[in-house]
Amino acid sequence: MDSSIIISIESSNDFSDEDCISLQLMRNKEYPTVLEPTTFERTEKWLKYPDRRTQYITARDVKFKLPELIGILTFAEHIEHPRSLWFSMVIKREYQRQGIGKKMLDIAKTHTDELRAFCVEHDKYVKEDGSTYFAPLDFYKKNGFIVGDKTLKTEIGLECVEIIWRKEI
Ligand SMILES: CC(C)(COP(=O)(O)OP(=O)(O)OC[C@H]1O[C@@H](n2cnc3c(N)ncnc32)[C@H](O)[C@@H]1OP(=O)(O)O)[C@@H](O)C(=O)NCCC(=O)NCCS
Repeated sequence: MDSSIIISIESSNDFSDEDCISLQLMRNKEYPTVLEPTTFERTEKWLKYPDRRTQYITARDVKFKLPELIGILTFAEHIEHPRSLWFSMVIKREYQRQGIGKKMLDIAKTHTDELRAFCVEHDKYVKEDGSTYFAPLDFYKKNGFIVGDKTLKTEIGLECVEIIWRKEI
C-alpha cells in the first residue's frame, strides 16, 4: 500500500452527500452489471434513513481534508436467524487487495457469533467497464466462511451462494 494512504476504519452512522456519491459510484463500478445501477436517491435513503437496526463500518482515506469514503460494510439482524447478522460490503477499486476488507470483516465479527451473506461463486459476470467481476468467494473462505445450503437466483440473472461465518467456541 502507498505509505501516504492512511485508512481509518470505524463504526459510523453519519453520512454526507459526498459519501452518498462515493458509495453510488463504488457500487455501480464494482458490482456485476446484471444488477441495475443504483441512483443517488436510493443510496441516500440507504445511508441516511436506514432501518434503525442497520449498522455500518466505514473505511475512509484520511489524507483528504474531507476524508473520502473508500469502503463500507453494512449489517443488520437476519430475519430468519435472529442471532445472525446479514451483511454486504464493497471497497473502491484502487483500495482493494490491501487488507482493508479483512479488517472490516474482523470488526463485524466482534458484533456477533454468526455472519451471513450472499456471494457470487463464479467469474461469469462483467463490471461496468467491461472487465470481469472476480467472484469474492475465496476472499470469504480465507476469512473463515463456509458455503451454506441456500442459493439465490434472481429474475435479472444473478446467481449467488450463501456464505456463513460462525465464531469458534
Ligand atoms: C471482495 C472485497 C470486499 C475484498 O476486500 P479487499 O480489501 O479487496 O480484500 P483483502 O485485501 O482484505 O483480501 C484480499 C485477499 O482475498 C483474496 N481474494 C479472493 N477473491 C478476491 C476478490 N474477488 N477480490 C479481492 N480479494 C480476493 C485474495 O487472496 C486476496 O489476497 P491477495 O491479494 O494476496 O491475492 C473487495 O475486493 C470488493 O469490494 N470487491 C468488489 C465488490 C464485491 O465483490 N463485494 C462483495 C460482495 S459479496
